Amino acid sequence: MSSATTTDHGQPADPGRRDFLGLVTGAFAAIGTAAIAWTLIDSMNPAADVIAAGAPMDIDISKIDPGQQIIVRWRGMPILFVNRTAEMVSTLNNKADTARLADPDSKVMQQPAYAQNWHRSVKPELAVLVGICTHLGCLPEFLPKPDPTEPVTNWPGGYLCPCHGSKYDLAGRVYQNVPAPDNLPVPPYLFVNPKTVRVGQNPTGVSYSLGEIVQL
Ligand code: FES
Repeated sequence: MSSATTTDHGQPADPGRRDFLGLVTGAFAAIGTAAIAWTLIDSMNPAADVIAAGAPMDIDISKIDPGQQIIVRWRGMPILFVNRTAEMVSTLNNKADTARLADPDSKVMQQPAYAQNWHRSVKPELAVLVGICTHLGCLPEFLPKPDPTEPVTNWPGGYLCPCHGSKYDLAGRVYQNVPAPDNLPVPPYLFVNPKTVRVGQNPTGVSYSLGEIVQL
């Protein structure tokens, strides 16, 4: 298997950080108008044509540093994995933060039932999201650090779409009064074991696909 170059979600390069451990094979269709370079390395996954056809893909999440994100291509879509720190997780329940969200309780069908919770995921510490802005499809930029000035007042960390300014929190919940109408989608996934996530397959007994959601 070959390795490829990595980037930093559109943010300035930081040589001290290991960002993308993206696990990808196959061609990737450009998402929206955001020109984002990606770091990609190969994995233990099936061949590109098999993944493109929708086969599940296993991701080693043990290599994601606390507070870091990796992006993996699955079915031509960027799948975001964030190893959320305890501090990040705590922001998801902060009422001052959630009061500014359009759908804080994930009532709109943008996720499976097993992610319709306050952290929008199977485990609070791991976010798994489809990185396609629900406005016009750009790749939102990962801005995880709280910042009192950017991109909104009292920013707790999350995503900012570079195209038209839509904002999401670290669970992919969209803010009020931005162009994007809905939360970022959550793909079907399960934990094969504590270190491995399988994207494209639901837990036993659950039926869910991205074809069911309101906005992709
Ligand atoms: S595509 Fe994200 S704000 Fe327009």
